[in-house]
Amino acid sequence: MNLDEKIDVKENKIYKLDSSLLNILLIDRTTNNNIIWATDMYINRGSGYEPYSQMTIEKITGKLGNVIKPRIEKSKVEQNYRVKDKAEVFTPSWVCNKQNNLADDLWFGKKGVFNTETPNGWKTKKRKIPFNSEQTFEDYVLSKRLEISCGEAPYLVSRYDTVSGNVIDVIDRIGLLDRKLRVINENVNDEDLWFEYSIKAYKSIYAYEYQGDSLLIARENLLYDFIDNYYYKFRKYPELEKLIQIAEIISWNIFQMDGIKCVIPNTCIKEKSIKNTLFGEEIIEKECTGCKKNSVNKHTGIYVETMDWDTNKKIKFASLLKKGK
Ligand SMILES: C[S@@+](CC[C@H](N)C(=O)[O-])C[C@H]1O[C@@H](n2cnc3c(N)ncnc32)[C@H](O)[C@@H]1O
Repeated sequence: MNLDEKIDVKENKIYKLDSSLLNILLIDRTTNNNIIWATDMYINRGSGYEPYSQMTIEKITGKLGNVIKPRIEKSKVEQNYRVKDKAEVFTPSWVCNKQNNLADDLWFGKKGVFNTETPNGWKTKKRKIPFNSEQTFEDYVLSKRLEISCGEAPYLVSRYDTVSGNVIDVIDRIGLLDRKLRVINENVNDEDLWFEYSIKAYKSIYAYEYQGDSLLIARENLLYDFIDNYYYKFRKYPELEKLIQIAEIISWNIFQMDGIKCVIPNTCIKEKSIKNTLFGEEIIEKECTGCKKNSVNKHTGIYVETMDWDTNKKIKFASLLKKGK
């Protein structure tokens, strides 16, 4: 099957390739269920599309294969609704590039390693990215990055400009993961070794998002960035087993979370207590303390877990904030 996709990755295509692949992209690793819609934009479609419902293969494939669309292909009405509802305004690629360059300027200790910025754009430097014995390409691949409230994850992968809709060639991509894959392409020619380094790159990249549809698109974008780079490097598509391994990592590292509370969206419930009155016991319900006091460690909701790949242990995201990591 031809795995070439430009902007909108079709769920039907992933499903036909292998149903388990789409299943993996829908998993929520904290609950072991699927990610939830967490938006009321789809409720008119009926049962199973409520904000609290899990996103299932059945609801997004077959005749419903066009339900999930990137923001650039959503109607103006839908786009405006999402701006009001969840402040969904995406960042143009040239701005993502500027900010990612700032992070790399710090890492490399010099400016403009990957490209030269131009007004509202950039010019890719085509020579090999220079490293030295103190800062190796492996160090760069392993350094951890997180995109908060990632939407379709334009800071991580820039397969297309989320604002203009322009498709971006592999060599010109500016996302944090794109840059790691570029460096691997330039330093590793053996196919098995290339795959090992790609796994390290995917394990070093994290992101979270509230809305389930954008989260699924972000996950698909990361998977297709792998396919695009594999094809770019080896002029062939990766085997299914490799796609499954990458998708597994993505499902851990790109997760659904209310970033203000560090819990799965809308899972906080009322706190109950019993009060003795003249007429017997009365159950008192009050708002979750975390929500009331905006206190990140006192929510009644389901705290999100992700994977610490250095120890291969699950880790509560909120605990990272506490440690200031
Ligand atoms: C301004 S957009 C930015 C998206 C992307 N990072 C970009 O720069 O293009 C904000 C994103 O934050 C998400 N969002 C809003 N409230 C959130 C919350 N409490 N936790 C996590 N994500 C949230 C929205 O769904 C939306 O995708």
